[in-house]
Amino acid sequence: MAILGTHFRLAAAFLCLAIHGSVFALDLTANEQAGKRLYREGVSSSDVQLQARVGASDMSVPATVLPCASCHGSDGRGRAEGGVRPPSLDWQRLAQGQGERQVNGRRYPAYTDSTLARAIQQGLDPSGKRLDPAMPRFDLTLADQRNLTAYLKRLADERDPGVEEGVLRLGTLLPSQGPLAGAGQVVRAVLEDGLAQLNQQGGIHGRRLQLVVLDPGDTPASAEQALHRLIQEQQAFALVAPVAPMLDTRLAAMLERTDVPLVGSAPQGAVSKQIFDPMPALSTQLLSLAAYARTGLGLSPQGLRVVYAGAEQAALAEQVRQGLQVQGWSVAAVEAFNGQAIDSPGIVFLGHAQAFVELAATLQAAGREPYLLAASSQVAGALGGLAEQWSQRILLAYPYVPGDWTEQGLANLAAVQQRQGLDRRQAALQVNTLCALRVLTEALKQIGRDASRERLVAALEGLHDIDTGLTPALGFGPGRRQGLAGAHVVSVSLPGPGFTSVTPYRPLPDAP
Ligand code: HEC
Repeated sequence: MAILGTHFRLAAAFLCLAIHGSVFALDLTANEQAGKRLYREGVSSSDVQLQARVGASDMSVPATVLPCASCHGSDGRGRAEGGVRPPSLDWQRLAQGQGERQVNGRRYPAYTDSTLARAIQQGLDPSGKRLDPAMPRFDLTLADQRNLTAYLKRLADERDPGVEEGVLRLGTLLPSQGPLAGAGQVVRAVLEDGLAQLNQQGGIHGRRLQLVVLDPGDTPASAEQALHRLIQEQQAFALVAPVAPMLDTRLAAMLERTDVPLVGSAPQGAVSKQIFDPMPALSTQLLSLAAYARTGLGLSPQGLRVVYAGAEQAALAEQVRQGLQVQGWSVAAVEAFNGQAIDSPGIVFLGHAQAFVELAATLQAAGREPYLLAASSQVAGALGGLAEQWSQRILLAYPYVPGDWTEQGLANLAAVQQRQGLDRRQAALQVNTLCALRVLTEALKQIGRDASRERLVAALEGLHDIDTGLTPALGFGPGRRQGLAGAHVVSVSLPGPGFTSVTPYRPLPDAP
């Protein structure tokens, strides 16, 4: 056992190394680093203030006002099409590839170190033709020119994977077999539909969006391997709406090691700065119910207990308990449901629908009638099997209700369903996927052509009041990774079941 353990740790350490090596830019030398500062900030490695001459009149301005990155992009990809535009400074394109180049109507042979210096300092291309005067002429020292050239040769390594001249690659994990295959199919249809619509309108900032879908298989190991391939081999720039609950906390760990952002629902308990979930976490939803139990039902601070069914719910249950403490409840410990009749005015339940029915039946047999608080996503399927006495005793959390749906939102949803032949009964999954895609594409539009993962995360953090037409307005923040920080509280009447919204969605003050 001990040997196995060591072996495993070694393998894990090796995996980390492999990941770092290929995803992160290799370390830059001191010269390349100096070239990078010049490229991005217009600063010399000496105390000299560099000057640039701009326009046809050779007006002199400090290079700090016009660093290369301000026109060619900090990723050096330039601006794609139309008119005289700053071209891509990809070293492969400038110097290494065979044959003539053609840019902005000019034709010229490959650049060398010296013709490159001439282009930057005198505005002439390798064939001796004048560059458009929109490209400034820079007065550089010998050392600055050498540093800058060294950095330009490395610029391509600094880019995040998955962003190419005309393509931006997104990735996801969707099962094609087993119990989650149906969900995988729905998510895939909604994503492909949405991206096709976007691409028809020209994509985002001149790039077509491409979706790479891999099957996570049905074990944590196979899912981890698929995730690894998606990021390393397929070079997904960001992930959207994966269905891979078996990844649990491994997902966050991998995303953080590689800086890959994800927009979609996180596997239970996975909290990460890289994961932006448009929907509220289960714990947030249950805490919305508890807030109502206090003000709306008048339960005393000792009036709630946290009960879970299934070992996989234990950590989440504990998370809820701690949130309850913060709300001012006093709950000593969480309890596993093993068929006992719990004695409490209110019970917060976590677990599957069938266990919820068993809990209700057990309580009923013991003559107890507490309020039962649960998330609709977990127990809504069980309501038909409950006795009438539970009418108005069950409170469910819903991230959104039909009242949130606008005409436009409904029309969008109906159009996707029709185009893809999707079942309206799976609307919740469709809405979740639409929201994830909406949030991601909104942030991609905001970061412009100069797309990096770092900028994407910053843009996601800056999203506020995103109107999906299907949910309350979504928003994130520097410390906020849930698009909705609360839930609607809905009371269930039986038989039926019938649903009455008792409090609308309101963000909880301390939701993470
Ligand atoms: C104000 C915007 C601007 C800034 C700042 C700028 N460039 Fe340019 N650059 C251009 C434009 C526009 C062109 C295209 C000119 C043409 O095709 O005639 C260009 C062309 C070039 C070319 C020629 C590429 C080719 O394919 O022939 C090189 C090399 C270049 N820039 C490097 C740099 C470097 C290095 C810096 C910083 C030291 C820099 N540029 C700063 C706008 C800019």
